[in-house]
Amino acid sequence: MSEKLHQEKIMAASESVRLAQKQVNPEFRQWYHFMAPAGWLNDPNGLIQFRGQYHLFYQHNPYAAKWGPMHWGHAVSSDLVHWKHLPVALAPSECYEEGSRGGCFSGSAVEKDGKLILIYTGARSGERAEQAQCLAFSEDGIHFRKYAGNPILRFGSCGARDFRDPKVWKHGEHWYLAAVLSADGNAEILLYESTDLIHWRLKGIPVQSGLRMGDVWECPDYFELGGKGIFLFSPVRFPGHKSSYLTGILNDRDGTFQPDQLGEIDWGFDFYAAQSFQDEKGRRIIIGWANSWDWMPWWRGYGPVQKDLWCGFLSLPREAFLCKDGMLSFQPVDELKELRQNGKSAENLCVSRDSPLSIGAGDGIHYELLAELDWDCSDCLSFCFLLRCSEREETKLEFYPGRDEMMFDRSRADQFGAGKKKCSLRLHGRKSLDVHIFSDTCSIEVFANGGKAVFTSCQYPLPESRKTFLTVSGGAIHVRSLRTWRLKPAVS
Ligand code: FRU
Repeated sequence: MSEKLHQEKIMAASESVRLAQKQVNPEFRQWYHFMAPAGWLNDPNGLIQFRGQYHLFYQHNPYAAKWGPMHWGHAVSSDLVHWKHLPVALAPSECYEEGSRGGCFSGSAVEKDGKLILIYTGARSGERAEQAQCLAFSEDGIHFRKYAGNPILRFGSCGARDFRDPKVWKHGEHWYLAAVLSADGNAEILLYESTDLIHWRLKGIPVQSGLRMGDVWECPDYFELGGKGIFLFSPVRFPGHKSSYLTGILNDRDGTFQPDQLGEIDWGFDFYAAQSFQDEKGRRIIIGWANSWDWMPWWRGYGPVQKDLWCGFLSLPREAFLCKDGMLSFQPVDELKELRQNGKSAENLCVSRDSPLSIGAGDGIHYELLAELDWDCSDCLSFCFLLRCSEREETKLEFYPGRDEMMFDRSRADQFGAGKKKCSLRLHGRKSLDVHIFSDTCSIEVFANGGKAVFTSCQYPLPESRKTFLTVSGGAIHVRSLRTWRLKPAVS
């Protein structure tokens, strides 16, 4: 273990990003979603508020706009909207992180004795492949040193190839760690307990996929909300599920979990590896990687921006709530309102098949739209927001009130992607709906029905695709209110 080598690797990585940043093509860069300055980004890591500041780390390849040896990129913010990039926090430098498919994999952050502690997976690839949990710490929240006794947690005496993504939290006097172990087609979340973050004891296996619900559950997360225990995880090979949650009751005496409801944080094509943290205001905030592994074939290779020397961005930060029906809802954090400009509003509009509504939403690309609608079920079959439209392109967001369903259709969204996806609106018979849309250069996020149906999607439309419409098929719809704002850039 050489501290000097780690510092050299960090300097080389930061220099690579600095040079690549000068050549990044800005064409598709997002205006208000978090991105690395250059290179590749996947999972959010180590989310925490430390000494009042929000810290965000992320899986990062500083040397290319594609996945490679994993580093931890780092940024800070005072409002979750404007982020300042800091030097790379972790670079692979040790034998437990070596190999072309290894590195410093995903993990979490906690504060202990005034220090910022990162607990992550040291992943070694190749013949001696192993994943084990490691620790790094910082006095100033910027410069990190790896613990000399790493790895702090291996699986059994021989180690395991798929044992990763530690999420650590404190309850009472004890620290807990949840990590995924995957073997023989089964994914298990293992729960460990510690008093010092260094020595860990297996408590139990609160949940597992049991061969039916995927074979790896990446990036497990755990928190409590409204008296329930909630596990988040990103299942692999569990059709229809990419960013799931389980509510229930965790018994931290024996590590068992009594499950209650299975839900999805986000039903979109592009939301994965979500991580949560509680901020000083007591909010449970969740951020995901606004992509997922299976998007690559959809996009042919690494997608349209790899040639621009960057790839990947994070979702908007969302606050989680426990609803009366026992499921969760997710709402964009309030701080995003700071980005609003040129607000426009209209009330009491009737939109019918013969009179679609043309909406002037911001510049047609970077905007927020908030609509409250109601209908008479017998009269309206479906209504549809058409976003980022031109002669050649459109992204369709269609609602079927009678079927309690929403469909996101990006078949004609751009020249790269494809696909339709639907989810339940959870209307429970209600005949009104709020639809909240955030559009950025290459993403659309939708929060419908108070954040009970959430959808994230990436697409890369032409700059001229900037018209927005509301259309109705069969009957009419009443728009109680419609508000739009142009959103100003938040990223540098
Ligand atoms: C999830 C994931 C994690 C892993 C990391 C590697 O997207 O596969 O399980 O730690 O990415 O970058």
